[in-house]
Amino acid sequence: MSNNKKSAVFPGSFDPFTNGHIDIVERSLEIFETVHVAVLENLSKNALFTPEERVELIEKIFKKRKQKVVVETFSGLLVDYVKKVKSRVIIRGLRAISDFDYEAQMALMNRQLDHRVETLFMMTREENSYISSTLVKQVAPYGGDVSMLVHPIIAKALQAKYSKKK
Ligand code: PNS
Repeated sequence: MSNNKKSAVFPGSFDPFTNGHIDIVERSLEIFETVHVAVLENLSKNALFTPEERVELIEKIFKKRKQKVVVETFSGLLVDYVKKVKSRVIIRGLRAISDFDYEAQMALMNRQLDHRVETLFMMTREENSYISSTLVKQVAPYGGDVSMLVHPIIAKALQAKYSKKK
């Protein structure tokens, strides 16, 4: 494994990517040269966007920084993906104490699986602390305003998705 300390992996389902996720990527870029946004491939059947659609949308958001923000899907173990891209760091956003149990479990499991991989937690900005992909999916289908929750690129894609479903 290479000792690349300049890159980090930001994994998630990202169905869809929210303003909270954008903020974590932007703040991670203050610390790391490259951030690999790793989109989980094997989502449940209830996923709104396909993995490919999610990658495309996230790429569009970071179009101006495509050298620094690499967006890819991954399947299997996250630590294997981290190794594949020669990183050693997983970044996860924390919104509230309620996130902590699940996040601690994952971080400890990932360290069991590969002790060289470290998980770093980043507190969300307070204005993003209530935002989640689930919340977006509860509001958007009924035409609710999601402009404070997601980037306009995602808002447009949500609109298109839900108008097709009608
Ligand atoms: O956005 P999410 O759904 O909270 O992200 C969860 C994710 C993708 C980070 C997690 O499910 C994951 O890493 N899945 C891959 C399988 C794995 O390696 N699990 C970690 C050991 S628990």
